[in-house]
Amino acid sequence: MQNNTFSTLFVGQNLIKLLEVDSTNNFVKHLVSNSEPLTEGTVIMADHQFAGRGQQSNVWHTEPGLNLTFSIYLKPNFLPITKQFLLNMAISIGIRKALQVFIKEGIKVKWPNDIYHGDRKMGGVLIENILAGSTYKASIIGIGLNVNQSVFAPELQNRATSMKGILQEDVNLFQVLAEICSNIEKQYLRLKSGNYKDLIADYVSGLYKFDTLSSYRQNGEIIEGRIIEVTEAGMLVLLVDGEKKEYNFKEIAFLNHTT
Ligand code: BTN
Repeated sequence: MQNNTFSTLFVGQNLIKLLEVDSTNNFVKHLVSNSEPLTEGTVIMADHQFAGRGQQSNVWHTEPGLNLTFSIYLKPNFLPITKQFLLNMAISIGIRKALQVFIKEGIKVKWPNDIYHGDRKMGGVLIENILAGSTYKASIIGIGLNVNQSVFAPELQNRATSMKGILQEDVNLFQVLAEICSNIEKQYLRLKSGNYKDLIADYVSGLYKFDTLSSYRQNGEIIEGRIIEVTEAGMLVLLVDGEKKEYNFKEIAFLNHTT
């Protein structure tokens, strides 16, 4: 266990830094299945992930040494597994609040958990829950955040950004990590306290395109709607032509242009 200077109770108190790994989420999975009990809040971070994974089986590729790629091990056994999405909300709020310490305006969460600034993606979250019956063996919170990367692949140039891209200066990776750990811990404890209503309201009000008329692709068609809610189960609720409609992740895609 490495001690560090994070002002947290448990998130990041055990910090394992790796130079290179396939994926920090995979590393936590192996720790959970192979070794002695792992301390809740353990953080595994890597300078270089050579097989980083993103949502929907995508690859998560970032330039070594410039960005944050890390995973937090949690065990939220206070949370019914039917309410798993609330953990996603708590994590997203924690990251948004942490980034707001550095960037005052414009940090949003694109449902379900992409980190956005303006219309560009700055980071993403991959949560992998390992369940044993109705309890959590582990909840692995994988976070990738573009911090000091300035050059992106041509196809991402207009869609991705980084903290440096916004602030026009280098940012200390460790300070950002410390802020994220501290804010995630706060939101995790808030989730544990059971005040779901406020947590959901906080998550929804920080969403990209919240209460804004925008275009979405749904079932091959383009629809116009406003995000008004997200259910406890994580369904996106849009107001479309005066009617409330609920969508799951696979049913709807954001389109770039807005009206
Ligand atoms: C997304 O697709 O937006 C989610 C990206 C999550 C990437 C992070 S980087 C650290 C952790 N390890 C992985 O392999 N993936 C997550």
